[in-house]
Amino acid sequence: MRVLVSGGAGYIGSHTVVQLVAAGHQVVIVDNFANSKPSVVNRLEALTGEHLPVHAFDLRDRDKTEHLFTQEHIDAVIHFAGLKAVGESVELPLEYYENNLGTTFSLVRAMQRHGVDKLVFSSSATVYGLDQEAATEDRPTSATNPYGWTKVMQEQILRDIAVANPSMRFALLRYFNPVGAHASGTIGEDPQGIPNNLVPYIAQVAVGRREYLSVYGDDYPTRDGTGERDYIHVDDLAAGHLAALTRLTTMDEPVGVWNLGTGQSTSVLEMLHAFERAVGHELPHRIVDRRVGDVAVSYADPGKANAELGWRASRTVDDMCVDTWRWQQANPHGFPD
Ligand code: NAD
Ligand code: WQD
Repeated sequence: MRVLVSGGAGYIGSHTVVQLVAAGHQVVIVDNFANSKPSVVNRLEALTGEHLPVHAFDLRDRDKTEHLFTQEHIDAVIHFAGLKAVGESVELPLEYYENNLGTTFSLVRAMQRHGVDKLVFSSSATVYGLDQEAATEDRPTSATNPYGWTKVMQEQILRDIAVANPSMRFALLRYFNPVGAHASGTIGEDPQGIPNNLVPYIAQVAVGRREYLSVYGDDYPTRDGTGERDYIHVDDLAAGHLAALTRLTTMDEPVGVWNLGTGQSTSVLEMLHAFERAVGHELPHRIVDRRVGDVAVSYADPGKANAELGWRASRTVDDMCVDTWRWQQANPHGFPD
């Protein structure tokens, strides 16, 4: 298939591009580089050995999106583009609603005009709200912050569009906590500013960019008192997108919803110790207050994805740390400008 990857220069998009090309698909990238760098594309071309067409514009621009679909033949879309920082979304709700909903409106409009019927959408475990333990897809959705609401709303918008257009095929993929990097060490997560997420923060402590890890609370009702999450290797997650794309070609119903997680939870201290094993020495940390809005435990029931997509996450937490560390060591300041 010729696949349009929105947000293809971002963390999860870039890893998915590599696997799409390896599987024989043709890839077209659209990204405004709001949270990524153009040099990602050079790395992707080196990894895949292919020239990758890139359209650099804001997907909310309907005219440019329409022009893209006129210029390029597209069979399917994987829609990663969006803003994703929970804390920032509380400060800038309008930007989050405009960007995340606006990109989806613009893309789906152009798809309809050009007869493109397959879309894989980046949703999140955040749509389970406070109820994230052993989450199954039938659980009611809700959110605790504007970012989360953009995901709940986009899921609903896509469901409504599917009712009105039953020939469309949508995959709503609810990711748990993506971490890790491509085994080459040439692409990985490159947060701008202070990392919000645990593993990029630990990686920056390990490489000497941050002094110590702040562990947000050790008084949760968990194995060791620190928060537990379902960390999934980004390459397992990327593989889930290819499986979903295949499933869309044979699906009878217009919408499929799948959790992409491992089904295992790892605590903050367990993750820190796994990273210490990868690095070969201890890393400094301090216990601080809980972070507002955090749940104690979040992990998937990935059974539906395992059964229906024929997909399963296989990489371990140690694999995630080894691969993150390889990427961080080789690129201490992320991608070049
Ligand atoms: P990312 O920020 O690395 O990638 C998103 C990409 O989209 C960036 O390259 C950014 O420049 C681009 N983009 C943003 N707004 C755009 C716009 N208006 N027009 C064109 N391009 C635009 O994020 P990621 O971690 O790769 O996440 C990808 C998707 O997965 C997002 O939708 C995110 O909400 C979702 N998700 C991420 C996580 C996670 O923890 N990383 C978890 C669950 C869901
Ligand atoms: C993991 C654990 C923290 C940083 C977020 C979004 C979620 C999804 C994935 C997009 C928690 C602890 C963290 C630190 C710490 N994104 N922690 N010190 O919060 O599970 O999920 O990213 O959809 O919507 O909310 O991930 O990596 O921020 O935190 O102790 O410096 O690590 O308290 O227990 P989270 P995270």
